[in-house]
Amino acid sequence: MANARKVHVKSFGCQMNVYDSNRMADTLAPAGFAEAAGPEGADLVILNTCNIREKAADKVYSEIGRLRVMKEEAAREGRQMLIAVAGCVAQAEGREIMRRAGAVDLVVGSQNYHRLPEMIARAARGEKVIDTEFPVEDKFDALAAPKREEIAKRGIAAFVTVQEGCDKFCTFCVVPYTRGAEISRPVEKIADEVARLADAGVREVTLIGQNVNAYHGADGGGAPATLGQLLRRLARVPGIARLRYTTSHPNDMDDDLIAAHADLPELMPYVHLPVQSGADRILAAMNRKHTRQHYLDVVARLRAARPDLAFSSDFIVGFPGETAQDFEDTLSLVDAVGYAGAYTFAYSPRPGTPAADIEDQVPPEEKTERLYRLQALIARQQRDFNAAFVGKTVPILLEKAGRLPGQLVGKTPYLQAVQVMAPAALIGTVVPVAITSLGTNTLFGELAGGAAAPLLAEAGA
Ligand code: SAH
Ligand code: SF4
Ligand code: F3S
Repeated sequence: MANARKVHVKSFGCQMNVYDSNRMADTLAPAGFAEAAGPEGADLVILNTCNIREKAADKVYSEIGRLRVMKEEAAREGRQMLIAVAGCVAQAEGREIMRRAGAVDLVVGSQNYHRLPEMIARAARGEKVIDTEFPVEDKFDALAAPKREEIAKRGIAAFVTVQEGCDKFCTFCVVPYTRGAEISRPVEKIADEVARLADAGVREVTLIGQNVNAYHGADGGGAPATLGQLLRRLARVPGIARLRYTTSHPNDMDDDLIAAHADLPELMPYVHLPVQSGADRILAAMNRKHTRQHYLDVVARLRAARPDLAFSSDFIVGFPGETAQDFEDTLSLVDAVGYAGAYTFAYSPRPGTPAADIEDQVPPEEKTERLYRLQALIARQQRDFNAAFVGKTVPILLEKAGRLPGQLVGKTPYLQAVQVMAPAALIGTVVPVAITSLGTNTLFGELAGGAAAPLLAEAGA
């Protein structure tokens, strides 16, 4: 379309936030919006915000400040540039955003993206539009599916939201307030989406949800299905080589899902299983509803089902009342599990959550010190985990062109990036690769088998 309007969507949050950004762009395509890589010259900029920690939430206001300048410039040139705020900050403090930031035209909560075309039309007429209600209709049904070319552009590995929201109410977390109650999409709708992705060249699908293993979507007959059953169904979709899911809660790790890890070769042996803390006192204060021992038992059951399984996790240090001993318990849990990687966070008080009101906040210097110690331990474990692959032959899903000419980059089952000399025709296939060395953030390897030799010689490697 020669005179299509341009929309730029910027994601600040988790994978579900990124998924939503794509679906917003897909929904606006039939309304005549083409996706732009940056805000320059865009007719509409959507900031898809994250509220999980203070730093994430603050980014929104500095970004709006930058966009305001562009908006004023556009107005001088006689163009209209609309600014929309979406996502979890919009959901939590939509009215506050409108009050604080006059440049914002439109605020859309995390469950209302399907209403965007109509909201934008109103905003374009000069109305300030805000919609942060939790609607009765299903936003997934109302959102447009991406076109085949769009899917292909987004790559070999795709994310699909299967579950949204959270009923767990950990005392530190905003998600139950910004995403609402847990809902699951029906099995066959997900299977259709995955089949469409596979048809457009996607080979790896990660099922996402705030508590993805609490999944209980309806199966073909209307009965609730487990995540294990969903995975078994999706493993049958032609073209799908790899399945993953994230993020899991330890309490929702049922026997069926554990069995799926033993049964399904498509299900990758890498599980993100947040624990947050290794101290029972703190786990109780966090309202995690599991103990240290329960978590360790879940890890052991998963490893028994699939011995090559590796784990990553999320940790919060400096939760209110966390003592030096509690923190040592976290370090010892990390030692006991042995992680392939983890995300570590200093506790950030979030307005409206119960933990923010606890008097006994840990001093910032102490939080930072604990964060560094934990990060150093995890970095060591991660390095050891990666180093152990050197000399092994590993199945790699080749995803795209690498750093050097003739090089492709792919992923191991454990999401490690691997650089390998290989012809572009192999993109989208799983090939055996002999890992030869370990760089800072990536592994290097050679195609295992006869085809590799002339190629490597040609590329001068
Ligand atoms: N549903 C997932 C993850 C939710 S948010 C779970 O149950 O674990 C992702 C991560 O952000 C959390 O696992 C937690 O480690 C971190 N996080 C959430 N709220 C936080 C806060 N107030 N301060 C610091 N980290 C936080
Ligand atoms: Fe937040 Fe806890 Fe729900 Fe995870 S389980 S989204 S940490 S409330
Ligand atoms: Fe952030 Fe919302 Fe995701 S708060 S982490 S974007 S669910």
